[in-house]
Amino acid sequence: MKSLLGIDLSRMLGGNLGGDSGLAAAELEALAPRLEEIRTKLAAMVESETGTFANTFRRPEVAAAKALATRLTGSFDDFLLIGIGGSTWGTIAIQAALCHGFWNDRPELRGGRPRFHVLDNSDPDALREMLHVLAPGRTLVNIVSKSGTTAETAANFMAVADWLRRALGERWREHVVVTTDAGQGLLQRLAVREGLAVLDIPPKTGGRFSLLSNVGLFPAAVLGLDVDALLAGAEALTLDAARAPWRENRVLCASAAAWLWFRRLGSVHVLMPYSRRLRYVANWYVQLWGESLGKRSDRQGRVVHSGSTPLGALGAADQHSLLQLFMEGPADKLLTFVRLEAFQGASPIPRMFEEDPEVAYLAGHDLSELINAEQESTAEALQAEGRGSRTLSLPALDAYWLGQLFQFFMLETFVNGELLDINTFDQPGVEAGKILTYQRMGRPGFAPLERPLADRLDFPVRD
Ligand code: PA5
Repeated sequence: MKSLLGIDLSRMLGGNLGGDSGLAAAELEALAPRLEEIRTKLAAMVESETGTFANTFRRPEVAAAKALATRLTGSFDDFLLIGIGGSTWGTIAIQAALCHGFWNDRPELRGGRPRFHVLDNSDPDALREMLHVLAPGRTLVNIVSKSGTTAETAANFMAVADWLRRALGERWREHVVVTTDAGQGLLQRLAVREGLAVLDIPPKTGGRFSLLSNVGLFPAAVLGLDVDALLAGAEALTLDAARAPWRENRVLCASAAAWLWFRRLGSVHVLMPYSRRLRYVANWYVQLWGESLGKRSDRQGRVVHSGSTPLGALGAADQHSLLQLFMEGPADKLLTFVRLEAFQGASPIPRMFEEDPEVAYLAGHDLSELINAEQESTAEALQAEGRGSRTLSLPALDAYWLGQLFQFFMLETFVNGELLDINTFDQPGVEAGKILTYQRMGRPGFAPLERPLADRLDFPVRD
């Protein structure tokens, strides 16, 4: 039997929080038939020929990514990822979680692998500064865009491709890998026309659910990370979620508890890992939860304005920033803590300042004991205030456990979308702004603004 991450939901239960502030076991029981239906749907997705987040570990595409990464190893000093949103957050999170914190600064920490950089915004300063420091002849560029038409990504790619071509002439093509929809999107066509290397994203594996496809796995392989272990972690949890009866099913119980919580008890979901390496998992998660569950209409066409607001925080640092709000501000939150039972190595606190009892008590402990005691104490203090939290525990931070953590959040988001009866995988709300931007930037076929401002309350920049 494969190892699974720990999930403690005790501090969401009414018996532990007091008053009306928690969940009753009967609420979960009442969801049982629906949860079994969702489990059956998930099991079918796992077995399906259609590639989705639920079966990335079965997909053949990743072999091409691993082979290409192997072929390119040693040829480049810098790896530049171009994309945005679901095309970059996951990879940023993987790199930060599994690579040394000073990866880019010290060659001996990289074992011959390239430095890691990202262009994920239409920010002129970011682009200019990036091209100022990189050497085109030693840079591998990976443009990731499922649709191929995202304006920020396209603009950055055009600038970077031009920069490569000016420096390298026709050889610029050898420095580009395109990751895009396996269908016939613009980027797929452009890559074929220009003779660029292409890696496929299965058509039904959408942006924020795609990090364990070639989107995140190619960069991971280039950085020398254990791609198979990432997938094995995701597989272990998915198979358990798809097979275990709901009462023994940690994914279904945690997901249902979250859904019940946000239906009745809260509107803000805080993800607070107690590990600096996991800080970008919170950024990725914010996009996953927010973009997937925030929907105007359900699948029946009823206006529901579903969703709860995700917020990333970092333990223990944000105990000195946001915790006051979590403890005493509006009682509208659920906190999800992530803790590591073991860190990368020991950091014993030495015997110093023994004449000062206010700090001397720390000596002899490891720093990992301190950070985990802080997590436990924060959960307990919140509980005493009647505020709910839950804790995910990873035995260690390696590729297997990271893959499982990502998959937990994707599965939970999927289950919540099913319970909300919405389309979890689309994002119609972002289209209107995109269309107006296309219009402003002169893309052919896009209509002028329909609703200009009638009244103004506007203080323009003053010279
Ligand atoms: O999750 C999503 O679908 C989005 O965040 C997309 O990833 C983002 O808009 C970028 O889209 P694309 O990969 O098509 O460039």
